[in-house]
Amino acid sequence: MAEALHISGSNKEEKYRSLLPQLEAMLRDTDNVVSAMAHVCACLKEAFNFFWVGYYIKSGEKLTVGPYQGPLACMQIGFGKGVCGTAWKENRTLIVPDVNKFPGHIACSALSKSEIVVPLYDVHGNFRGVLDVDSEYLGHFDQTDALYLGEINKLVGQYL
Ligand code: SME
Repeated sequence: MAEALHISGSNKEEKYRSLLPQLEAMLRDTDNVVSAMAHVCACLKEAFNFFWVGYYIKSGEKLTVGPYQGPLACMQIGFGKGVCGTAWKENRTLIVPDVNKFPGHIACSALSKSEIVVPLYDVHGNFRGVLDVDSEYLGHFDQTDALYLGEINKLVGQYL
């Protein structure tokens, strides 16, 4: 049987802080980056019930969808396109409080209202993809998400 996740805490930061060591321990059981990404998505979905959480992986001049949890998503995103491609182009985390106000946002679902996209780097610091998290609520993401999702990506980056 798979290990159970035990998320505690009354606020977002406490929940991330309870998730991180558990995730770190789980990822020790694999040397495969796809497994690591899949576990991250499942854990984030279970801990926070995000609408959509998943990876887009750099493949040449585009991002291709990787492991994810949530409704069916678009397969490929070009450099500089949408929130994901813009995070790649600008090489930074993007927090979008209202996706309808982001020019060029790629709507995989009309229910998605806000979004955070966090770059993923390998151990040499090369850009390798993004972690994209969507919410059906406006303004759902802030610097706390940016910080902890960045920490989670550092764990995953060790497998690249
Ligand atoms: N909204 C993203 C596309 C991916 S989906 O949200 C899953 C974007 O604009 O890049």
